Amino acid sequence: MTGRRRFLLGLGALAGVGAGASQAQSGYDRQILAADTDAAIENASLREWAAAKGLVYGAATQEYMLSSNPQFASSFVRECAMLVPEDELKWKSLRPSPNRFDFTRSDRLAQFAKTHNLLFRGHTLLWHARLPSWFKSTVNHRNARQIMLEHITKVAGHYAGQMHSWDVVNEAVFPEDGRSDSLRITPWLRFLGSDYLDIAFRAAFAADPQALLVYNDYGMEYDTPKDEAKRTAVLKLLERLRSQGTPVQALGIQAHLWGGETRFNPSQLRAFLKDVASLGLKILITELDVTDKHLPSDIHLRDRLVAGVYQDYLSVVLDEPAVIAVITWGLSDRYTWLSQKQARRDGGAVRPLPLDANMRRKEAWKAIARAFKQATPL
Ligand code: G3I
Repeated sequence: MTGRRRFLLGLGALAGVGAGASQAQSGYDRQILAADTDAAIENASLREWAAAKGLVYGAATQEYMLSSNPQFASSFVRECAMLVPEDELKWKSLRPSPNRFDFTRSDRLAQFAKTHNLLFRGHTLLWHARLPSWFKSTVNHRNARQIMLEHITKVAGHYAGQMHSWDVVNEAVFPEDGRSDSLRITPWLRFLGSDYLDIAFRAAFAADPQALLVYNDYGMEYDTPKDEAKRTAVLKLLERLRSQGTPVQALGIQAHLWGGETRFNPSQLRAFLKDVASLGLKILITELDVTDKHLPSDIHLRDRLVAGVYQDYLSVVLDEPAVIAVITWGLSDRYTWLSQKQARRDGGAVRPLPLDANMRRKEAWKAIARAFKQATPL
């Protein structure tokens, strides 16, 4: 690892609110000056900086955001090489009734991706959340397998050959539920047992053998007992699935990061990524964003602290050759789930993403571009 990269590491860790703020500010400025000139970095888009290293940069979005905001749509096409529907491919959106599939909004996103030469990625074929209202009264032990197989076959089949990758199963590990296999107690587990993941992956593979099949989850980023338990449990699950020949081909690490969180241990994360790679799996960073609710209200300082978190995290994960893509969960602060779910106490607008609400590139954008620029080519 170049001395420079060793130097860059730990900037985010200085993001502890309050005490290190001024140090962080000067440290971050020093890094900018040392790294390169902003002007040069802005001569290319995130998709181009990533592509130069054989990586894919993309973002999640929703159909209404692209159709109602041309400025956002053009920023999306400029910056992204991949589009992920934020909500349109979930059961609630696709299944208005037990016997109906409605691909209207997801097809519009697929068409947008095709028109603008973007890779298209599916999220998610099987999840315990965002299930339709009819699910509870309709699905039971007798029909769960048939209903799950019908859904996966129909949805993955509908986009067969168009998908870069599918999150086949999302968030199935939850050690807090207390099971020896650390699986989350979901309707799918209750009705089908722990084999439901294998059944789902085999059905997805049969319906679209070209798509990269991904197991996607969160809470694997920090040096905390909770995240360590999650990493261990996810690794155990992947080992089990691989050992029984389940066609899982990649791990999706959501990476919903926290500004001000100092329990970040680069060597621990490196070791985890290496363990995942040693199973022959690819790795995608699938839902990257930085919650800024605990950061100072000063926008100039807050943006630098958020950028430091992106810089720190990406400078570790992009060292792992198995990492093939980085996807942010949104592109502009105008459209982010964090506005509702992690609102700031001071009432200020959240600023977790690369572009601000007016599609201007922020410090976070520059930090991501630099991380790609400094990444080891694949
Ligand atoms: O589509 C309806 C719209 O018709 C209605 O007017 C509006 C107001 O109620 O709700 C709209 O649905 C919302 C949907 O997002 C689309 O915007 C749902 O209420 C809302 O619950 C849903 O939230 C999404 C959430 O997943 C649940 O699917 C968030 O946008 C999305 O960012 C979030 O993403 C998840 C990933 O899938 C998995 N990992 C965590 C991540 C964040 O929670």
